[in-house]
Amino acid sequence: MGNMLTNRMLRLKTRPKGAVSSDNFELSEEQVPELRDGQILVKVLYLSFDPTQRGWLNDVKSYVPPVQIGEIMRASSVGQIIESKDENFSIGDIVMGTFGWQEYAAVDSSFGLLPIQKLPEGIPHTSALSIYGITGLTAFFGMIDIGQPKEGDTVLVSGAAGATGSVAGQIARIHGAKNVIGIAGGSEKCEWVVKEAGFDSCIDYKNEDVASKLLELAPKGIDVYFDNVGGKILEIALSQIAQNARIVMCGGISSGYTIEALPPGPSTLTNLIIQRGRMEGFIVLDFAQRFGEAMIQLGTWVSEGKIVYQEDIAEGLENCPATLARLFEGKNFGKQLLKVADPE
Ligand SMILES: NC(=O)c1ccc[n+]([C@@H]2O[C@H](COP(=O)([O-])OP(=O)(O)OC[C@H]3O[C@@H](n4cnc5c(N)ncnc54)[C@H](OP(=O)(O)O)[C@@H]3O)[C@@H](O)[C@H]2O)c1
Repeated sequence: MGNMLTNRMLRLKTRPKGAVSSDNFELSEEQVPELRDGQILVKVLYLSFDPTQRGWLNDVKSYVPPVQIGEIMRASSVGQIIESKDENFSIGDIVMGTFGWQEYAAVDSSFGLLPIQKLPEGIPHTSALSIYGITGLTAFFGMIDIGQPKEGDTVLVSGAAGATGSVAGQIARIHGAKNVIGIAGGSEKCEWVVKEAGFDSCIDYKNEDVASKLLELAPKGIDVYFDNVGGKILEIALSQIAQNARIVMCGGISSGYTIEALPPGPSTLTNLIIQRGRMEGFIVLDFAQRFGEAMIQLGTWVSEGKIVYQEDIAEGLENCPATLARLFEGKNFGKQLLKVADPE
């Protein structure tokens, strides 16, 4: 049976210098190929947008190979199986995988960063990419395994209105943190962080003096700092850590994840010595064996009302580059997704 479907996709044309733009990608149309044995044909429904995708566009050694020129842009996604030559998958199944910036993916089940998986029944398609996706899981393992919040701790989270940060702060609270402080850009985001996500306070780094505000909110110092941004805010946080503090190096989005010359590292680093602190980086994919248990726990917390989350859904495949750029402009409110199509 020949396949009469036309696929639209975005292939990397040039590597961005600085911010990503639509000029870096080529939108093209190709006929969907006929499936080989063992393959599935997935209609892509939603794409996940993650700051790390900007890093994948740099031709440097990282935790995964860079996206190559001419390659379809890599992206986590949810889709529906519309044809199957793999006995483990049936037409209609909703699946998660790294299908990329395209409308249809003809792939083997081992394709992508993690093997393709069916969505458990009852999980909304979008939340498989938000609270139960990479960002929710990053918050879970980053906060619990690396941050190790204890009863009574003061916990600081940057990127607090974002997909990862908002969940990380709520997990710290569930684990007994007494004082959960967020840092986010703008009063609207800060209001959400306090009123909806239940943080004790939130510093608007775009309009407030972070150092003096932090001193006021955490006079005894910070026990856990969950860092999503790096740069100046990390430098300030390090200067105000308590003894035996844990610094979770989750992300450094303030660098823009470009390979352009970056400013020198935090001048306050030696405070880790004085306060016997620990600073540790991690990549969430290393916890893949435990994703199942984490999803069940996150699901319980969501159904108990202990965790709230927000999704920001763009539309239109051609808008993918601009949607990725939104993360670096602080335009997203919660998990950034893009809807490609409705299920059949
Ligand atoms: N280690 C891992 O395995 C792993 C996995 C997933 C994500 N991450 C990291 O986690 C962080 C959050 O990712 P996410 O997907 O949840 O995105 P997100 O927080 O939902 O969105 C990114 C947010 O970063 C903030 N931001 C952008 N530029 C900034 C700057 N110059 N200074 C301070 N804040 C800035 C913006 O919020 P404001 O409006 O508040 O500025 C923006 O909304 C990123 O650093 C990402 O790389 C790490």
